[in-house]
Amino acid sequence: RCSVSSTRIGHEQIRLASGGANRGITISSLKEADQLAFILGFGGYVPDRIMTNDDWAELVDTDDEWITARTGIKERRFAADDQSTLDLAAHAAEKAMEDAGLTAAEIDEIIVATDTPEAYTPDTASFLQHRLGCREVPAYDLGGSGCAGFVQALDVARARMLLQPKRILIVGVELISRLMSWKDRSFCVLFGDAAGAVVLGPEDGRAELLDVVAGTDGSKTEILTLKTGGTRYPFNAESLASGAYQHLDMDGRRVFREAVHRMSTAVEDLLENTQRTIDEVALVIPHQANKRIIDAVGHKLAIPEERVYINVQDYGNTGSATVPFALWEAKETGRIRPGDLVAVTAFGAGFHWAAAAIQF
Ligand code: COA
Repeated sequence: RCSVSSTRIGHEQIRLASGGANRGITISSLKEADQLAFILGFGGYVPDRIMTNDDWAELVDTDDEWITARTGIKERRFAADDQSTLDLAAHAAEKAMEDAGLTAAEIDEIIVATDTPEAYTPDTASFLQHRLGCREVPAYDLGGSGCAGFVQALDVARARMLLQPKRILIVGVELISRLMSWKDRSFCVLFGDAAGAVVLGPEDGRAELLDVVAGTDGSKTEILTLKTGGTRYPFNAESLASGAYQHLDMDGRRVFREAVHRMSTAVEDLLENTQRTIDEVALVIPHQANKRIIDAVGHKLAIPEERVYINVQDYGNTGSATVPFALWEAKETGRIRPGDLVAVTAFGAGFHWAAAAIQF
């Protein structure tokens, strides 16, 4: 295991590890016990428009049987023509702030995790700060890390709270239907649009963020990449003509293997750091890319199926939104109850992974 960072706010120690969960530098008693990170509110949003597998079969050479067997996905939601990434993000953020009992004026920082931003520059967080009517607080995007972005943002936010207790709004949002190719069957059927959000704060809320682990293996950038648009592969007439700018290069099988390995190992690292066992985990919420990946993670962790959250059948892969949306949905539908220990785990292009332990 490599590149594990672990920071426990308000507890005895902070590990700044590289090379293994238990081989880090330990700094004792940096913070007092009252400076914890809590999730104060949850929010989620999906657009109304439903796109079924049969709908896709009318547009590309595919069918419900193939998509269901390979991915578990039955339908997904797509944004309306007049909606943008900002609209989805704002809906989820407003719900999370309302759930936290906070107004926009009480938010001290905003992080938006997305690979499908409102504009190339400036970032979605700038638009969101203005739309929500927040004060002139720090606001920034975490982009390019695929579907791991939201959990990485939890890690960043928690570290920011070490310096100064504050209320941080974190949004995971994707509007991928606007940017992907609608002709590439090996890619388009996998994704959907959604947003999810949480508000983090130092007050004793309903869910304590116990620990976060995160890591990156940059030797695998090529297994999941949208090449066109950066300085290495500039957007030009050639990429426009070939459609390369809408084409995700994906080595599906390698992504599958890495995803299972990294998401399950990240949860094991969390359990080690928090001195819990898998039997104490009430619910694992993995990134919702593919039901077969989710099943394999559950199998590796030796956790019964009923304690693994799955909604990929209804929404497809919504990138950075899957984890915060699933957290919100699981809470709304009573799948998470007070006292539950929940582990969220995600992977994304990079190759990145991250996981968080949340004590409700
Ligand atoms: N409908 C019908 N056939 C399709 C298809 C579709 N939508 N998409 C691809 N196929 C075809 C392929 O062209 C291929 O045909 P061929 O054998 O004639 O070349 C065949 O199905 C098998 O493709 P393959 O890529 O080997 O399938 P797979 O079993 O690996 O499943 C994925 C493909 C993408 C579902 C699977 O690899 C996966 O889920 N990987 C992880 C990807 C992921 O999670 N990405 C998101 C990361 S955030």
